[in-house]
Amino acid sequence: MHQTDARLGRIICVLMSYPTVVISGTKLAGEIGATRSDVWRLVEQLRTLGVEITGHPSSGYQLAAVPDLLLPDMLAPLLRGTICADDIHHYYRVGSTNTLAMEEAAAGAPEGSIYLAEQQTAGRGRGSNQWHSAESTGIYCSLVVRPALPPSDVLILTLATGLAVQSAIQEIDPRIQPDLKWPNDVLLNGKKVCGILTEMSSEATHVRYIVVGIGLNVNHVSFPEELEPIAISLRMATETEWSRIDTCAALLKSFDREYNNLLLNPDAHADILQRFQEHSSSARGKEVWIEEHDGFEGVTEGLDSRGFLQIRTREGLKTVYSGTVRLK
Ligand code: BTN
Repeated sequence: MHQTDARLGRIICVLMSYPTVVISGTKLAGEIGATRSDVWRLVEQLRTLGVEITGHPSSGYQLAAVPDLLLPDMLAPLLRGTICADDIHHYYRVGSTNTLAMEEAAAGAPEGSIYLAEQQTAGRGRGSNQWHSAESTGIYCSLVVRPALPPSDVLILTLATGLAVQSAIQEIDPRIQPDLKWPNDVLLNGKKVCGILTEMSSEATHVRYIVVGIGLNVNHVSFPEELEPIAISLRMATETEWSRIDTCAALLKSFDREYNNLLLNPDAHADILQRFQEHSSSARGKEVWIEEHDGFEGVTEGLDSRGFLQIRTREGLKTVYSGTVRLK
């Protein structure tokens, strides 16, 4: 598992800034501070990643199509002014960006560091679930934050992240209406398009760091058989291909807005709880089965003041702390 060579992004940026021109290997080498043979090797590497570059060392190079990779050099300009602009880390393949981000946070990664991968070999969901992470089709992103908040506010941050994902998707395509399912799912047409995995290191009264992991299904055209009934991508829902880089930028900018609101607005808690309930069709009045211990059924009755889901059951009102909610 190696972090992507930053020179790959620089080559793409140079080629993109001269879209109609063939650029000599010597000029490209000068612009990125490498030798001509490095440039040749890096161009070959980009080609194996699906980036269409025409030409060879003697003729020079030209970009045939703008690539949709989440490279730091391409993402950073889109994130200016947010907490995510300065520490962007990209990998072609990792086990899990959340595991990586937790390790890096423990080693001191600053607030706003983000870890992106084109592919995960051990993507994780809540509980012991896996996250299907096919190469360069989804967004697999983990963000490190260090808020001065008590550990009990982490659920609120997860709910706010769901709101951020929902509004980012709608900003790009206002025709679609993503739905939120407590605590960490974003649904389209009743199927899951995004999952959020929030993990933290804390003391009893304060958070050391939080990693917010977001898995968004963007350009998948199908899923493994067992996921077909429950998973969907933005592309499957809209029948159009989405730009992963624009979507990722919209997502992180939207997260930045929600995060600042949470830190700075004294009414943020109540505001997030209210908006989550307004944007979740299942938060109230829906018959559900809760998979927690022996499981129980009932009707959803909104969120309590800490963000936990309440269920009206035959035995009275129950609170869901960690279970999975199945809609009936
Ligand atoms: C869930 O729905 O249970 C949460 C899924 C979270 C998946 C994302 S993908 C990026 C990050 N890395 C992981 O291993 N998991 C999260």
